[in-house]
Amino acid sequence: MDKFVIEGGTPLHGSIATSGAKNSALPELAAALLTDEPVILRRIPRVRDIRTMERLLVDIGSDVAEDGEQVTINTPKILSPEAPYELVKTMRASSLVLGPLVARAGRARVSLPGGCGIGARPINLHLKGLEHLGAKIEQSHGYIEAVAPNGLKGGRITFDRITVTGTEDILMAAVLASGESVIENAAREPEVVDLAEMLIKMGAQIEGAGTSTIRVNGVSKLHGVTHEIIADRIEAGTFLIAGAISGGDLRVTGCVPEHVAALTSKMIEAGVRITDEGGGTLRVQGGTTLSPVDMRTEEFPGFATDLQAQYMALMTQADGISFISETIFENRFMHAQELIRMGARIRLDGRQATIAGRSYLTGAGVIASDLRASASLVLAALVAKGETVIDRVYHIDRGYEKIEEKLSGVGARISRVD
Ligand code: EPZ
Repeated sequence: MDKFVIEGGTPLHGSIATSGAKNSALPELAAALLTDEPVILRRIPRVRDIRTMERLLVDIGSDVAEDGEQVTINTPKILSPEAPYELVKTMRASSLVLGPLVARAGRARVSLPGGCGIGARPINLHLKGLEHLGAKIEQSHGYIEAVAPNGLKGGRITFDRITVTGTEDILMAAVLASGESVIENAAREPEVVDLAEMLIKMGAQIEGAGTSTIRVNGVSKLHGVTHEIIADRIEAGTFLIAGAISGGDLRVTGCVPEHVAALTSKMIEAGVRITDEGGGTLRVQGGTTLSPVDMRTEEFPGFATDLQAQYMALMTQADGISFISETIFENRFMHAQELIRMGARIRLDGRQATIAGRSYLTGAGVIASDLRASASLVLAALVAKGETVIDRVYHIDRGYEKIEEKLSGVGARISRVD
């Protein structure tokens, strides 16, 4: 099982490029099922979750051809509208094929995702949405069976709470439903907007993506498309924090500054110098004394829950007490115990964390638990004195493309050992 060995204390200098967004690529790969014409996705990140989704598409009946950062998906026919437990248990985002399969093939059999470290993460809202589009849903033996033998009909869906993949799943079902659909309390994340833009290029009629009300006029067929995936805002945010926590001077290139505005405004308030140099480059200069700045996670455009762990690592270096509230998931502080082992002073109380900085971190043996918690351990290791060994880095490989190569390219002393 791979480990990262990191020697702390080196400020990062230079430029680090952002890859395409994993959380855009996943729904957009699923969207390829909606047409029998070729779909080409550019700037696809080479991370584990993407390979898992590509495998699932092949099982369903797609031909998937990778060519560097481009992948071509051809699905002339849906052979098996199923997402088996073996795949879903490794990646809950497999539920993103639900909507496209019911829309294209009139039925889907998808394993219910099991538990997840960061919370229960049910998909009840996805299922309720499909029912509002006329699908019949049954559950048995850990699987969801969804059928719409006469096709989906447009309907009004109001999500009880904002769900990113729930919005994406229903959007992908509605585009081929007959009639108009309205999605209320929709997620506004950039990844939802990017998916909508791809669907519109395929011939879908969508208005309001990026707002909390999305209107869809169903069409009978969608055609192929070539689409470039947006930059990964979570990866970009992680690198911005890396530049700050290491006291370096780093340019993060190929990102979308407004997609990380909630993070950069908090970092600037804490005393980090961040400059938008234009053309998708953000320059971050650390080294100044950091002030503690409270933060609570919110749906976009609020502070992303996927950057909470990384921000907590930064706040261990701030001079004073800061409070972090995690409002999206019920158990997303697993990184705290590992940071404490490195010398951080953190107290947890349910969904609230209190961080008493500044703490001088020292290298330690730590264990990655989930994708973003693992990233926060890498960040802490960059500033910790001595050597940190991070075990179970397959978690990181799920969502960060060659992170050790990108970081060592800007001076980090990090290596992967098996
Ligand atoms: C997406 O997950 C992201 N994954 C997550 O990123 C991200 O943390 C999350 O959105 C929040 O921004 C992908 O896009 C592939 P939700 P998703 O549905 O869609 C509850 C990463 O690190 N809920 O917006 O699964 C749910 O339990 C991953 O890349 C229901 O109760 O998240 C959670 O508390 C981690 N019923 C809240 O809503 C449902 O049917 C928000 O979840 C659906 C969700």
